[in-house]
Amino acid sequence: MKITHSFLGENSLSITLLVEPNPQIESLFMLNLSTWLGLEIIGKKRAEFAINYLMEGKKADLIIVRNTIGKEASANSLIDYLQQNNLEIPVIVIGQSGHPLKNGHFAHLPNSLELKPLIQTAAHALKITAQDMARKIVPEFFPIPILYFKEIKRSVCPVYSQDFETEEYIKRSEANVDFDSALINTMIEEGVSHLFVKKLDRLQFVTNVTAELMNVIPEEEVNSEESLSIASKAVQLLGTKLTTIGVTEETIELANKNLARLKKTSSSHPKLASLLEKMIKNKSGYLFKHTQILTYVCLHIIKNIDWGSPEQEEKVCFISLFHDIVLETDEMAVIHSTKELRSAKFTSQQRMLVERHAQMSAEIVARFPHSPMGADQIIRQHHGMLNGIGFSEHYGANVSPVAIVFIVSEEFTRIVLARETGPFNIQEMIGELKQVFPTSRFQKVIALLESITF
Ligand SMILES: [Fe+2]
Ligand SMILES: [Fe+2]
Repeated sequence: MKITHSFLGENSLSITLLVEPNPQIESLFMLNLSTWLGLEIIGKKRAEFAINYLMEGKKADLIIVRNTIGKEASANSLIDYLQQNNLEIPVIVIGQSGHPLKNGHFAHLPNSLELKPLIQTAAHALKITAQDMARKIVPEFFPIPILYFKEIKRSVCPVYSQDFETEEYIKRSEANVDFDSALINTMIEEGVSHLFVKKLDRLQFVTNVTAELMNVIPEEEVNSEESLSIASKAVQLLGTKLTTIGVTEETIELANKNLARLKKTSSSHPKLASLLEKMIKNKSGYLFKHTQILTYVCLHIIKNIDWGSPEQEEKVCFISLFHDIVLETDEMAVIHSTKELRSAKFTSQQRMLVERHAQMSAEIVARFPHSPMGADQIIRQHHGMLNGIGFSEHYGANVSPVAIVFIVSEEFTRIVLARETGPFNIQEMIGELKQVFPTSRFQKVIALLESITF
C-alpha cells in the first residue's frame, strides 16, 4: 500500500521515512504514527530506495527501518549512508537481526509489533511532547486514507465521506455493518482519497484496524515475540467481533486461529516461567495473560490425568479461550468475587457485563457450530453460579470432571499471575490452592500440578 499521510495540519509535518517490506506492517505503522503523532510518512520497501530518496536531497526528520530485509543489512546500510554524508537524522531500527547492528541508531525495537514503544520512541526522536499533542487541533471529521477501507470488512464506528462541492460530510456506513465493497471501489475510481471518522471515534477505529491488520500477517514472517503480540490483539479482536457481529464464518475462523495460537504457544514453552517472562516483556494485558496461562495449565492437567484425550484437550482450550470472551478490559478480568465487583470502579453497564459475563459468554458458545460438548455449561458455571450470573465461592457437588480441571486451573492461574515474576514455590502455591478447594475430587486434580515446571 502506498500512502502518504499528513492530516493533522501544517504545524506537524515531520516527515518520516519508513523502510518496511511487509505491506501489513507498513500499513499499520503508517496508520498509527499518523494518527497518534500526526507524522507524514513516506514508505520505501528497501534501504536502497530510501537512500535514493535522500540522495535527491529530499527531507526526512526520522527514519524507521527494518533491521534486515531479505539478506540485506538494511539498517546498517542506511546508518552508513547517513554517517558518510553527515546527515543527522535519528534512525529507529525495528525487528531482530542475524548480524550486529552498527552504532549510530537512535533506538532499536526488536519486536516490530509493539506499537506503543514505537510511537513513544518516534515522539522522543522528533521531540514531540505530550503538550504538543494536546495542543494539536484535530478536525471534527478525522481523515483516514480510503485504502484502509479495503483492508477491513466493516468499521467499529460510522464512516463519512466529504462531498466534493459542498464540503459537507455524508454518512456512508453505520458502525459494525459490512461495507459495500463496490461502493469503496467506485469512490477510489472517482478519486476519493480519504474517508472520515468522527474525531472521538478515531482512536477506537485505529486500534481496531491495527488488530485486523496484525491478524493477517503471515505467521512465518514474525518471530515468537511478535507472534505473542499478534495473539494478544487477536483474542481482544475476537471478543469485540463476537459481541458486535456475533457467530459468523469470519468469527469462527478467527476463533480457530486463536485456538491454534494458544496451543502452539503453550507447547513451545516447556517452562511456564519463560512463557510468563516473555509475556511480561511483551507487556501483554491481564486478559490475554490469563487466557494463555490458563490454556497452558489446563493442557498440563489433561495431559497428565488418566481420562485425558485429544478431544478433552480441545475442549479445555476452547473453554479457556471463550469463558471470559465478552470481557472488555484487564480490570474486568481480575474480578472474581462479589466483593471485588462491588468495590471496583465501573460504570453500571460495565458492572452488569462483569456480573453476567459467564452467562453471556456461554450464550455465544451455545451458538457456535461444533463447539465441544458441555463447553457452554462449564463456561456458564465457571464462577460457581448455575445461571452464570454473579460469583460464588462454592461449587455444586455434581460439578463435572472437566469443570473441576477448569476451575482448579483458573484459580492456579490467578495464583501464578499474582506472583508473576516469581519466585514460584510450587508447594506453597499448591497449599494455597488446597485451602480454596478442600474436597477430595478437587485435591486429586490439584496434585497433578506438582509436575508443572517453572
Ligand atoms: Fe477467567
Ligand atoms: Fe470469568
